[in-house]
Amino acid sequence: MPEQGLANAFGVTEEARAKINLALHVTGQRPDGYHLLDMLVTFADCGDRLGFLPAQADTFTLSGRFGETLADDGGINLAIRARDLLREVVGALAFPVHIHLQKNLPVASGIGGGSADAAATLRGLMRLWGTGLPIETLAALALKLGADVPMCLESRPLIARGIGEEIEAVPDLPSFAMVLANPLKGVSTPEVFRRLEAKNNSPLNLSRPAGWLAAIGAARNDLEPPARQAVPEITAISAMLQAEGALLTRMSGSGATCFGIFADMAAAREAAAALHEARPDWYFQATETVSGGM
Ligand code: C5P
Repeated sequence: MPEQGLANAFGVTEEARAKINLALHVTGQRPDGYHLLDMLVTFADCGDRLGFLPAQADTFTLSGRFGETLADDGGINLAIRARDLLREVVGALAFPVHIHLQKNLPVASGIGGGSADAAATLRGLMRLWGTGLPIETLAALALKLGADVPMCLESRPLIARGIGEEIEAVPDLPSFAMVLANPLKGVSTPEVFRRLEAKNNSPLNLSRPAGWLAAIGAARNDLEPPARQAVPEITAISAMLQAEGALLTRMSGSGATCFGIFADMAAAREAAAALHEARPDWYFQATETVSGGM
């Protein structure tokens, strides 16, 4: 369904923006096995879209380029889990709903599509059900759904620590012209963490006498080496972004999506078009990230 169609057909619509890890340092590990991370995160102006309507019974439909990929997951979709969890808290006010998910982002790709869908569902259903929750209750609910869901609720530039639940806004982060690139090979996050060798790397240090781009360039994604072992195409895709003139390339999350930062949107669009021509079977998307000042 085109974007306008979704807005016309559903009273309440929400965007689920792609999450980009500009940097991800693994700084330690909790006794339960989860890794402690320092992350600089921003959000793209592209993403999934969700629509919400009152219904006779709970229903869920899918569309979009990657809708089919989710069709067979047996209802464990994070949007459905978010609906059910929120209903437990809201109680009698939570009448049945129809949820439509336009899945534009590749699945299991390190840009937080599922987490963004869950966060958008929490936001959308609070609007539809006409209910609000104290910010701490909402944050705890989000964290129950996944480590990245609290930051997706914010969808603005931030630094996240812990496993992602300690969030600090970064109001001076500028917007970037970017190309997102993915070989459409799903990556298993637990497998990438299992392959990780050093688990206590240096924390993120964003001192920036030479500006944001240089500071981000000096940081890392510690999950990139183990992800490259699992999906060799990541190395190729990064080289392709560089060959198209990216000022900086890096992988996001546990992969396999890589981003290239370009001088401006014209350069990003041109690069995305050339890359699409070279590999029409892969995913390339030019996008502008949100700025801290929004
Ligand atoms: O958050 P998500 O459900 O994507 O995590 C999947 C798996 O990745 C976890 O079960 C855990 O094995 C690993 N993980 C981790 N440390 C994190 C996040 C995920 O070890 N901070």
